[in-house]
Amino acid sequence: MDLKEAIYTRRAVREFTADPVDERTIRQLVAMAIQAPSAVNQQPWSFCVIRDKAVLDHISSKAKTHMLRTSQVALSHHFQTILNDPKFHIFYHAPVLVLISSVTDSPWTVEDCSLAAENLMLAARAAGLGTCWIGFAQAWLGTPEGKAALNLPAAYVPVAPIIVGHPKSEPPPIPRKEPEIRWIGS
Ligand SMILES: Cc1cc2nc3c(=O)[nH]c(=O)nc-3n(C[C@H](O)[C@H](O)[C@H](O)COP(=O)(O)O)c2cc1C
Repeated sequence: MDLKEAIYTRRAVREFTADPVDERTIRQLVAMAIQAPSAVNQQPWSFCVIRDKAVLDHISSKAKTHMLRTSQVALSHHFQTILNDPKFHIFYHAPVLVLISSVTDSPWTVEDCSLAAENLMLAARAAGLGTCWIGFAQAWLGTPEGKAALNLPAAYVPVAPIIVGHPKSEPPPIPRKEPEIRWIGS
């Protein structure tokens, strides 16, 4: 699959088969993620690969409660309903979560980790895998309790929780808004 096809066909995947993703494949995705550019070439990222179902279930449950209790923005009725639903799993029962955390609090670490995340998602698409960034997980993973659950050093900042798995179905494309492009000069 060429880059253009991977970019145009990558989708947020929320339904997975029960098939595991092998370690070699995950290592290849990480190897491609770290080809991303980073400010001052700091490469300020750390990858935590979670394949333990009990840990994923635990994070899902804690993150839902945390979001409902602490969300800064008023949660829409839709979000409140799904977060209150005991059957809703924020990771959609994906077999793997790759959490990209920044290891310093220097400027641009969020940008650096996000660029690595996009590389990882495109690389996964090219390998026939599905991914989805799970923002719901971020706030709780950033708490002392969340970091402790994954043995993350206190200084790390979780930036990009990306689920990875074999897609059960091909999600339809989400239409894009017409981008505003303001030209200055010819
Ligand atoms: C920062 C960020 C946070 C997201 N958080 C969630 C999430 O918590 N749960 C979810 O199902 N999708 C989440 N998504 C996926 C978006 O909903 C999805 O990318 C968007 O609807 C566009 O669809 P597409 O990725 O298929 O193009 C998130 C995406 C981003 C970039």
